[in-house]
Formats: sequence, C-alpha cells, structure tokens
Amino acid sequence: MLSDQVQPAGPAEEVLDPGATAVAHPNIALIKYWGKRDERLMIPYVDSLSMTLDVFPTTTTVRLRSTARADSVTLDGSPARGEARHRVVAFLDLVRQIAGRTEPAVVDTRNRVPTGAGLASSASGFAALALAGAAAYGLDLDPTALSRLARRGSVSAARSVFGGFAICHAGPGTGVAADLGSYAEPVPVADFDPALVIALVDAGPKAVSSRAAMRRTVETSPLYRSWATSSMADLSGMRAALRRGDLDAVGEIAERNALGMHATMLAARPAVRYLSPATVAVLDSVLRLRADGVPAYATMDAGPNVKVLCHRADAARVAGTVRDAAPGCAVVTARRGPGALLRTGAER
Ligand code: DP6
Repeated sequence: MLSDQVQPAGPAEEVLDPGATAVAHPNIALIKYWGKRDERLMIPYVDSLSMTLDVFPTTTTVRLRSTARADSVTLDGSPARGEARHRVVAFLDLVRQIAGRTEPAVVDTRNRVPTGAGLASSASGFAALALAGAAAYGLDLDPTALSRLARRGSVSAARSVFGGFAICHAGPGTGVAADLGSYAEPVPVADFDPALVIALVDAGPKAVSSRAAMRRTVETSPLYRSWATSSMADLSGMRAALRRGDLDAVGEIAERNALGMHATMLAARPAVRYLSPATVAVLDSVLRLRADGVPAYATMDAGPNVKVLCHRADAARVAGTVRDAAPGCAVVTARRGPGALLRTGAER
C-alpha cells in the first residue's frame, strides 16, 4: 500500500462506489501545539486550543476500488507524490486496519488554501480525510473517536473536526493510554465571535516542514521545556478569557504564546526561522494599531503569514493597515467556522 506509483484508471465500464465526501476548515491555534512525545502515535507534548475558520475549506472524496492494486491520491487535480502521498496512504492503512478492510481507495482532495504555506492545510486535510475515509470504510465513529483518528494524520487536524473553539488534550501516559487520552473537544464560547485578519505575506511552500521543525526544536532547543510549561498557564488564562469574551486577554495570551513558540525554534540548533521581513513589518503594524487604540493581536504558525485577531467592527481598518505594511500581500478576513461535515449526494 505504500508504493509511490499512481495506478492507472480502471476500465471505462467500471463503476466506482459513490464513496463519501467531507468538508473541513483549517483552524488557527491561540494556544499552540508544537512538539510530539510519540511520533508514531502522533501524541503532542502540550495541550492546544484553536478557532476553526470559515475560509479555505478542504473537500475530500474517498471511494473504494476493490479492483485496484494500490491507492490513487489526487491533490487539487494532480497525482500526489512523495511525502504528501505517503501520509495519505499511511492514514488510509490505519483506517483499513481499524475497519478490518483491505480495499484500496481513490482519494480526491481539493483545497481552497495554498498547501504547505503555514495555513494549517494539514488540519483541514486530515479532518476531511478522517471523516470521508471513516464513512467510506463503514466506520461509525463518535466525534471524540473521529478527532483521535484525525490526530493520527496531523495533530492539528483533531481540532478541525469541531467548529468554533476546540481544545486538543495532550493526554496522559504512553502507548494505548496516550492514544486514548489525546483528542480534541469543543470549548463552548457563547458570545465571542471575533475577526481573524489573515495576511498572506508568502503563499509559497515552506523550506522546513512543521514536522521536521518541531522535532528539531524538541531535540535541541534549550527553550522548549520552559515554553511548554508556560503554555499550560497560558491555556488556563485563555479558557478564562474566552469565557469572559475578553478579546484583549485572548489576544495578549495568543500573541505571547505564538512568539514564545517561535523563540523555541530560533533557539533550535540549527535555528528554524519562519518569520520573514514582511512578517515583522506586519507585526510592527499591529503594534501601531494598538498604540492607536485598536485592539489587534498577532499569531503566526509554521510560516511567515500573520493572523491578526480583532473585533469584527475593526476588521476593515486592520486589513487596510496590514496590507499597507506588506505591500502586495493578500489579506483575507475570517471568522469562526463550522466543524467537519459529510456531504450528501446532492451537495457534492
Ligand atoms: C504551528 O499539526 O501541521 O500550526 O502534527 O506534524 O502534522 P503534524 O503538525 P501540524 O503542526 C501545526 C503546528 C502549528 C501550531 C498549531 O496548529 O497548534
């Protein structure tokens, strides 16, 4: 099943099973996940908390094809290759193992977000693949089990199973206990519906994958442990701030948590630096907005793009300011979005 070859399409008369189609959205972590304590089982070191967005969905269809010799995977219409294909096929192997099935699958994935640009496309990707794959292979999973499954594809994907705000538990222990204890669940937040202004300063693929970067950080950064410890305090502060609907507190905690994560990477050996001059220009513009009395707070993932949290009423001003700070960058304003959903036949 791990062959890198793309299988030719079957005979023209072969009818594919209708399979299952799922849609999922990326999420942006306000408390970051960075580092795994078990790479095989995909168990994070730290709890994380995110907001699922209403932009950049991934739509994935999984159909079973018993006559094929291997899985076929297309990404935005082109055959997936290398690591991207390997991760999908390994994930399908896991789904088949759980379901006790063996049929190869035909997977078609469409992203409305630049893949690999630090916009958490693996989160929407594996949340959609988990939901569509589970349905196609006849698995009946509750949301907790689905998020646990999505985590095996990408830890951040566990959170995209849910809409709005979600926490992903690092869970206790090792092995089976860790696997069972590490899943995401919704954080009910009634009246907090901010804007997230996304400055796409560079939509190209990143030089170091987040997976390789976090491994290097855990193994070599002298700052990693202290960030992980302070992240626990950030998490309880964040939960309280969300309960109060306090944008300033949410933003302050999110910004310092993200900058701390980037500090751990800068101290890795060799250093991992995702932040570009355009990133810093946008960060400076966020400071200027605050000095002018506009509550706006920045967070960055494994890439140079900046996401600015603000009140919806300020979103247009924030978008204009960050656009001026990084001329030529695309700016998209998002809000909280829905969890992963299966599409019925008529909606496909
Ligand atoms: C910086 O979930 O993409 O966006 O688990 O190795 O697939 P893998 O990594 P991934 O890493 C996301 C890291 C982050 C922070 C976050 O989303 O919490």
